[in-house]
Amino acid sequence: MQDEYQVLESAIKQAGQRAQTIRQSGLSVTTKGRQDFVSQADIAVEDELKQVIRSLFPEDGFLGEESGLIQSVDANTSGVWVIDPIDGTTNYVQGMDYWCVSVAYVKNNEIQVGFVYAPDRDEFFMAKKGQGAYLNGAQLAIHDPEKGQAIIGLGRSNRRPVQEYCDLILMLDTQNVEYRRFGAGALMLAHVSSGLVHGYFESHLNSWDALAGLLLIKESGGQVTDFLNNDGLLSGNPVWAASPQLWENLNKLLFLV
Ligand code: IPD
Ligand code: CA
Ligand code: CA
Ligand code: CA
Repeated sequence: MQDEYQVLESAIKQAGQRAQTIRQSGLSVTTKGRQDFVSQADIAVEDELKQVIRSLFPEDGFLGEESGLIQSVDANTSGVWVIDPIDGTTNYVQGMDYWCVSVAYVKNNEIQVGFVYAPDRDEFFMAKKGQGAYLNGAQLAIHDPEKGQAIIGLGRSNRRPVQEYCDLILMLDTQNVEYRRFGAGALMLAHVSSGLVHGYFESHLNSWDALAGLLLIKESGGQVTDFLNNDGLLSGNPVWAASPQLWENLNKLLFLV
């Protein structure tokens, strides 16, 4: 018999693959703001996962990027499932492979479970609190990059002034820090846990972008900021996460200490 998490894992894979099929048959895309697109696949994936989660975990609340918050039965005892149906929608609608489905579970103000699935790349990341992080079944362990080889992932939040981002780029280039901006924060965080990049910074992310990836990083041995602090679940927060030594080295540069 499959347990609830195995059922959910299959549902996430199915939903992600459905997004691939929908894209093949033609997308209709609307926009919620600058570089913030919604396609019928964003809605379909979220609806599908919402249904599965509500039937598997009826006591829990639900927070999705496209449909908002459904309160839990009892906020004191139950948790909240937090979903980004497609992270990196801009990439997804352009036919690029750098997008993912992100699902996390928060209870007692801690991230308990995180899944990140990138269907076009055939990458399924999973972490459970205290039980490690895995990519396609193989356990992940973060190592610091060799000296001078670190690459930091970046995102630019529309909620923050452009100047702030420009200042950050100027500072990183002045200090010869390599960076990449691939356009899907949840997947870039997952890629910190697997070592494709070594850190990720964005001045504001929503909980559906951040939570699954942050648990992956924590469970694979990296350092992360306390995202759930100050109502991060509903309001979002800045995110800085990295391999241990890089975290120490860049905290000052990023004005975090
Ligand atoms: C966005 C992406 C992007 C990040 C933005 C997010 P969406 O999510 O993760 O990389 O910089 O802050 O909003 O809209 O593609 O789900
Ligand atoms: Ca969006
Ligand atoms: Ca997102
Ligand atoms: Ca999204």
